[in-house]
Amino acid sequence: MAKEYSPFTPGVPVPVEFFVGREREVTDLVGHVSKSVVRKSLERIFITGERGIGKSSLCRLALRIAEEKHQVLGLHVFLGGVNSLEEMVRRIFERLLQESRDREWFAGVKGVLGKHVKEAGLFGLSLSFEASTSDLGQTVNDFAPTLRHLLERLGGQRKGIMIVLDDLNGLAGEARFANWLKSLVDEIATARTPLPLMLVLAGLPERRRQLIKNQPSLDRVFDPVEIKRFNEDETKLFYQQIFKKVNVDIHEEAQAILWRFSGGYPVVLHEIGDAVFQADSDGRIDKADALHGVISAAQVIGRKYIEPKVLSTIWSERYRGILKKIVSHPYEHRFSKADLDKRISPDQARVLHNFLRKLKQLNVIRPDAATGRGHYEFTSELYALFFYLQAAGGGD
Ligand SMILES: Nc1ncnc2c1ncn2[C@@H]1O[C@H](COP(=O)(O)OP(=O)(O)O)[C@@H](O)[C@H]1O
Ligand SMILES: [Mg+2]
Repeated sequence: MAKEYSPFTPGVPVPVEFFVGREREVTDLVGHVSKSVVRKSLERIFITGERGIGKSSLCRLALRIAEEKHQVLGLHVFLGGVNSLEEMVRRIFERLLQESRDREWFAGVKGVLGKHVKEAGLFGLSLSFEASTSDLGQTVNDFAPTLRHLLERLGGQRKGIMIVLDDLNGLAGEARFANWLKSLVDEIATARTPLPLMLVLAGLPERRRQLIKNQPSLDRVFDPVEIKRFNEDETKLFYQQIFKKVNVDIHEEAQAILWRFSGGYPVVLHEIGDAVFQADSDGRIDKADALHGVISAAQVIGRKYIEPKVLSTIWSERYRGILKKIVSHPYEHRFSKADLDKRISPDQARVLHNFLRKLKQLNVIRPDAATGRGHYEFTSELYALFFYLQAAGGGD
């Protein structure tokens, strides 16, 4: 029976009240906002980390705290699928409208955006920002003056602005974006009137590399903050805090299992948590519930994250045969090439090297530093479990 309410939110930025850990990063970000407000300066951060590691969640929390504590205007803008600066500014101003509409400074915002504000949606409940491409192009060029003007119109009700440009994807590869950032930074630095602005970029490490390739000086302009996996303590804290909110107890033994299979990846933590929550029937998570949940999470995660990532590259008959031999035991996620060599066919042996290289590139396996050369481990035990379940079930 599916439970109605799960406190887990796989795949979407975590609600502020369920946010766990990351104290250093949050303090750091909020500290930069404070500095920006006090010194009326431009502060710049680039948040990087793998997909699902918690970049958006971190930005969201830092933004909320900064709004409360330092009275800044916070705008979290998602730029997935955006390839032009014009569309970027349109989204920034649309966000500005949505964030301000119920606030006391809405009149000021409306004053600045003026005729471009349109009521939208079937019942006119949402506001959209509409402008011609040439008007948008103008705003791209006048970005800093527009923000300055906006702050003036807010008449001290907001002391600065924090903008998070999240999911940089397409834009990060555009030379125009890199150049725009560079001139924005230079312009603010040399302008006579200061602008208290905290600019946060968030994206995968390769996005940061792309950006810097287009405009090498941005390397020094945006301080990188790298988000890492949770460690064991954080993972346990995560489950304790979340289960406590819904009055569910979790045993020590079960916690150890959840840590082992999640590998500390926040997105995996949520998937497993959700599955375990569903598996439990008496408000106490024991070892059996944990294992049960892990197995169903492996299937969900396999379908949602592993297959799309791996399928296109390695899903040949021959590769599958090899994978089956690698994951010959349900709870084993390490293997050695020497041992594998003994168990595979000559046909498979010919492509083994290539296959392992591809798995490494996809971040599915990594060299096992503890046991030495020729030894590998899956980056997540859940991966191994998923492939095992696939192989055991015939896997088609
Ligand atoms: N600090 C955290 N505490 C609790 N859950 C988190 C935390 N960080 C991330 N998550 C969860 O992990 C998943 C991925 O987070 P997200 O912020 O979307 O990652 P990213 O933006 O790096 O892709 C989401 O389900 C989110 O709720
Ligand atoms: Mg994100």
